[in-house]
Amino acid sequence: MSSKSSSIESVLTENRSFPPPEAFAKAARVGSLAEYEGLYARAERDPEGFWAEQAAELAWARPWSQVLEWKLPDARWFVGGALNASVSCVDRHAASWRKNKAAILFEGEPGDTRVITYGQLHREVCRAANALTALGIRAGDFVAIYLPMIPEAAIAMLACARIGAPHTIVFGGFSSEALADRIGDCKAKAVITADGGWRRGAIVPLKDNVDHALAGTTVEHVIVVERCKNQVAWTSRDRWWHDVVDTASPAHEPVAFDSEHPLFSLYTSGTTGKPKGILHTTGGYLTCAAYTTKLVFDLRDDDVFWCTADIGWVTGHSYVVYGPLANGATVMMYEGAPNAPRTRAFTSGRDPGAGLDRFWDVIERWGVTVFYTAPTAIRAFMKWGDQHPAAHDLSSLRLLGSVGEPINPEAWMWYRKEIGGDRCPIVDTWWQTETGSIMISPLPGATPTKPGSATRPLPGISIDIVNKDGVPVGPNQGGFLVITRPWPSMLRTIYGDHERFRTTYFGEIEGCYFAGDGARRDADGYIWIMGRVDDVINVAGHRLSTMEVESALVSHPKVAEAAVVGRPDDLKGQAIVAFVTPRSGFIGDDALAKELREHVAKHIGALARPEEIRFADALPKTRSGKIMRRLLREVASGSTARGDTTTLEDQGVLEKLAQSFAHDD
Ligand code: WTA
Repeated sequence: MSSKSSSIESVLTENRSFPPPEAFAKAARVGSLAEYEGLYARAERDPEGFWAEQAAELAWARPWSQVLEWKLPDARWFVGGALNASVSCVDRHAASWRKNKAAILFEGEPGDTRVITYGQLHREVCRAANALTALGIRAGDFVAIYLPMIPEAAIAMLACARIGAPHTIVFGGFSSEALADRIGDCKAKAVITADGGWRRGAIVPLKDNVDHALAGTTVEHVIVVERCKNQVAWTSRDRWWHDVVDTASPAHEPVAFDSEHPLFSLYTSGTTGKPKGILHTTGGYLTCAAYTTKLVFDLRDDDVFWCTADIGWVTGHSYVVYGPLANGATVMMYEGAPNAPRTRAFTSGRDPGAGLDRFWDVIERWGVTVFYTAPTAIRAFMKWGDQHPAAHDLSSLRLLGSVGEPINPEAWMWYRKEIGGDRCPIVDTWWQTETGSIMISPLPGATPTKPGSATRPLPGISIDIVNKDGVPVGPNQGGFLVITRPWPSMLRTIYGDHERFRTTYFGEIEGCYFAGDGARRDADGYIWIMGRVDDVINVAGHRLSTMEVESALVSHPKVAEAAVVGRPDDLKGQAIVAFVTPRSGFIGDDALAKELREHVAKHIGALARPEEIRFADALPKTRSGKIMRRLLREVASGSTARGDTTTLEDQGVLEKLAQSFAHDD
């Protein structure tokens, strides 16, 4: 964050902490700090016993014979156990009083709605599982899912889990090239998509993107949900969802899979140009998704839990689908943009307005009680104005959450006051695609909060902050965030590259998992995440690698060289700045900048489109030819402090870059 917010942060750290709101504390499962500490200590004393207790909350077809087999970096959890994830999430609720309880409350961007009970969800998941089986999809086959936020997304995930076919979800905002890379890497046998999805009143052409992505892949079948009724091309491998799923039998006998059977892989950015397929397995992942949902969101049967993340991100996997459904909770699912109005067809003719209040409108109309979103969204709401939440009755809310990047204290305070009305605790949750579930978070009603701190690790999670030699640093000293003991929902590998898995996560700091984040712990033991320490940037809560954007840029025929850095951005947390040296004969002008921005969007997706492109004759390099990104970061953020430049080969380059920057401003 900017230096302005970090000074506020330190004032707040020193002078204020918020005890948990009283009314909440009385009812919470873990009702006090002492209780949290007791639970934490118990888990530290006997981690395997603790995790076995959590795993026992799931429906197992065969019990495990050993809780953990750990040969660093390889973990196997609940060894010998067998289960079917969809049974824990669906069948056992459909066979209980929850049969007629809402599992999913859905609102499409235009304003269309659906309510799906656990009984209905069970039948739909069974139908989809039968349809996939009829197409020849078997346990172990990967299925790519490229869908909007519609109930079929959850149904497709659970159907894949039911037949043991690991899913790989690709966010609908990724381009067809990014989709093709991911499908190719996991050798998906089928793709589940839709004709389109609604986004700010426009149709995202998902099926067209799939068509472009499929040339030369292993995909045999494409199942297409009809959502927007837009025109789509059709080939012999395409099937409509309503033709194959709606006609399939609603009965399906689930098979139990080994606890370590792959449940899904999800691609995320690392420090190279190639995204990593983070692989999660069944028993351990589901144990933690369910446990953390119960503990952090303290869900009750009358709750309506709205996690605003798209299923294309890990947050959507763990806290829209697997965690809440394993707990028999009711989830809210909304398809569209936070600033899109309903269409008049769904407002009984009333003026739908500009849509800047859409989220508050959803909360009010559906009675959302727990709301979990990202700091970048909160900052956008702040910018749009307090009148929007103020125009709605938000009294159904009892708990707020934040995830994806460090939340700046201004946004935290606004969230608490304008949305929670000082009534709702805020849980700032730190975790990663790799960790599978929340690792550090306050427990509502138990942990006093400090705005901007994710506070303390959950019981069962052993965190430390160390220097590069693995030695723990003292209070308030910055260091690397590590997890010192295995936990059930840890990633098992990077799909197809176990060596990269070992070196990236277990090769940096001896004996523990290296998160890639910098952090410090204050005198109260509270953890403050300081952001990534590698070349990963976090744009509006989305992870991107600078190398990925660089390789997209240099694939353009007019580009000789490119370097990409993040600079602080008030809204998105970080924004992408690209320094580009054009090939000789080409001029770095506005037209080329525009061309390059579009080129990146086409290669990766709109979320990777650089905010700024700076042209330069040369980039600052060390004598060994390494681009000095640290210096570019300083130039990009407008800082004049240059730090150590002694290894810089050509001092003049930096001055030129700084001047070009100042000039353009
Ligand atoms: C960052 C998202 C500070 C962090 C669940 C991490 C956070 C990366 C927080 C993972 C938080 C996530 N406070 N930083 N509460 N939550 N991050 O894999 O840098 O998309 O490494 O997982 O987001 O991003 P990912």
